[in-house]
Amino acid sequence: MNALVTGAAGFVGSHLCGELLDHGYAVRGVDCFTDYYPRARKCQNVEPLLGRRGFRFTECDLHDVELGELLDDIDVVFHLAGQPGVRPSWGRDFGHYVRQNISVTQRLLEAVKPRPIRKLVYASSSSVYGDAECFPTPESVRPAPVSPYGVTKLAAEHLCELYRVNFGIPTVSLRLFTVYGPRQRPDMAFSRLVEAALRQRTFELYGDGSQTRDFTYVADVVSAMRDAALSDWCGVANIGGGSRTSMKQVIAAVEALCGPVDITVGRTQQGDVRHTAADTRVAATSFGYAPRTSITDGIRYSSSYCSRRWRNSMVIRSAAFQMPNASWPFTSLGGPEKSVVAGG
Ligand code: UGA
Repeated sequence: MNALVTGAAGFVGSHLCGELLDHGYAVRGVDCFTDYYPRARKCQNVEPLLGRRGFRFTECDLHDVELGELLDDIDVVFHLAGQPGVRPSWGRDFGHYVRQNISVTQRLLEAVKPRPIRKLVYASSSSVYGDAECFPTPESVRPAPVSPYGVTKLAAEHLCELYRVNFGIPTVSLRLFTVYGPRQRPDMAFSRLVEAALRQRTFELYGDGSQTRDFTYVADVVSAMRDAALSDWCGVANIGGGSRTSMKQVIAAVEALCGPVDITVGRTQQGDVRHTAADTRVAATSFGYAPRTSITDGIRYSSSYCSRRWRNSMVIRSAAFQMPNASWPFTSLGGPEKSVVAGG
């Protein structure tokens, strides 16, 4: 099976590529390295994949390139590329969200339209619900996003449904609930908290810490994506972790593992929902979804990954003066060939 993974250098995308390769897929990963967070972090995400049999990586912007060539021989498309982040989606940056989340999805759907693909799996978001009217929230609840980010994720999901109904493209939209785990984006709560504990920095808690999230471990998310792609089912499904945890509880768990964290209390951020909880019965009945990683185990795995990463970065920094400038070659579409320094 040949898979195209968009957003392959991102947090979830890089895990998904690994999962697919483990299961014998040939994977074409694409990413345009938006500057939402440092390029070096994304390079580190992709680096372990580069030597693996069956993996090809292309740097390109899906908004501008000819998509036909990327889709040649592809059986399954996993569309994870996009502009992430709930809180920065207000104001002048909204244009990026429209471009990366809505326009790119529409372009991809148009390009896929004449092709006989088996499935297009779109990474949607729990943020489409906004402050939901009930918990756990089933897909039948009317989405009412409270952030511009959520609006663009919902628009892209609607596009997937439109192309499914009108042109028969077999699409699945998975509403992912606050994904965490190794390589989590540096702007998200877990990353910041663990980093604050390890580096003796301050963590700014938005609000009083009583907000809850249905945190979902990344390994559960990527196996759900693979199972959804393999199934005959199409539609929209929640992917949650199976429990609701408050930020106060997350802070206590991270402190127990990594040491005390200096907390400052900031104001609640506009666009942040108060609570999330996924009703995952649609995913369970449609493609056998069941989260396997408890929040306790997930926090333990994530914290130990961050500790190792932090220790390695200290070693690399102290040895930096003797490291050669290793270049990292990959193909590039729609732009000059680029290379980065391995290890950032
Ligand atoms: C996350 C992702 O950032 C979105 O891309 C994704 O679509 C969304 O989950 C989703 O599930 O739909 P969020 O739930 O805000 O968004 O995840 P975190 O950034 O990890 O925040 C979790 C909680 O921690 C929020 O209540 C937030 O206000 C709080 N937080 C976050 C802090 O108190 N301080 C921080 O520095 C960061």
